[in-house]
Amino acid sequence: MRFVPSSCLKPGMVTGKNLYGLNNELMLAAGQKLTNVEILRINYLKFQGIYIEDKLSEDIEVEDIIDASLKNKAVKSIKDVFEQTKDGRPSKDCHLKETIEKIIDEIWVKPDVIYNMIDLKVFDDYTYYHSVNVFVLSVIIGISLGLKKDDLYNLGLGAILHDIGKVFIPKEIIYKNGKLTQEEFEIMKSHSEKGCMYLRKNWNVTMESTVGVLTHHEKYNGTGYPYKLKSDKIPEYGKIIAVSDVYDALISDRPYRKAIIPSEAMEYIMGGSGIYFDYEIVSAFFKKVMPFPVGTTVKLSNGLTGIVAENYSSNGLRPKIKIISENETESDCQFNDVYYDLYKDRSLLNVTIVKSLSM
Ligand SMILES: [Fe+2]
Repeated sequence: MRFVPSSCLKPGMVTGKNLYGLNNELMLAAGQKLTNVEILRINYLKFQGIYIEDKLSEDIEVEDIIDASLKNKAVKSIKDVFEQTKDGRPSKDCHLKETIEKIIDEIWVKPDVIYNMIDLKVFDDYTYYHSVNVFVLSVIIGISLGLKKDDLYNLGLGAILHDIGKVFIPKEIIYKNGKLTQEEFEIMKSHSEKGCMYLRKNWNVTMESTVGVLTHHEKYNGTGYPYKLKSDKIPEYGKIIAVSDVYDALISDRPYRKAIIPSEAMEYIMGGSGIYFDYEIVSAFFKKVMPFPVGTTVKLSNGLTGIVAENYSSNGLRPKIKIISENETESDCQFNDVYYDLYKDRSLLNVTIVKSLSM
């Protein structure tokens, strides 16, 4: 299967994975043929794209990091927590804790797990999908750093709840479609302290988890908030959540800007290493998160186009690529079963990926 941007979907294309809509209901099942109505709905909900199955990509498997229904449960649980907190009801955190424990169990048994797919998310539910993605990315970075399972649980809980304090920020500021004034920004900045205080008072969570929430906007060079902490003074969970938070925000559509592709977001993270982010965390991140996820269509420096078929965690910039025709259409496919293994094939050292076409 391969990832196709919503703007390029055509009736008759066959879905490669289940697609879930608002409120996590099954919107399209894997193997279903797309109609014009479904394509309109996909665009209406502002999905960046979906996975489709076709002849060009039939031998390419895109593996979920975690089971889709478990992920949906996590999205639903964190949505419930946000809504209950907003309404001033004591939140029933047990579902969330149970779900994240299950997800960590699932990731823990595959220590060589890599983040190798494009997330399919509904634009309007950004906060909840983002919280879950920040959680998964943080756990993966934690594994890369060699954290113990119990520590991953504490890290994960802090990560999934990192922005719970936004519930206490006025809606006009959260959803403002434009630059915040200095005064508004000061109010917005209080979300990390508010979230930490709320959790300490109302939830049975460890100090490490709440400290992760409190410090997820600190920056390595001391220009972050709330305490302007520098380098080693920033607690480890805060530093991990900061990288996951920025990365997932960059690859998501926001009201004020379009998403950027994973490889560009990773370049930003790399550029910020030692300035905004800790070197060690960035290097742990690069070992696990792939800049060209499987199923991505890429343009090569020799003019050919291909679909990423396999990634190597030791060098995410040099995947194995299935070559397809230059104009990406099935009827024009001239290169059946031609693969370029950019990592293993020494004769391809001068070939590079120049562009990702998947978004
Ligand atoms: Fe935040």
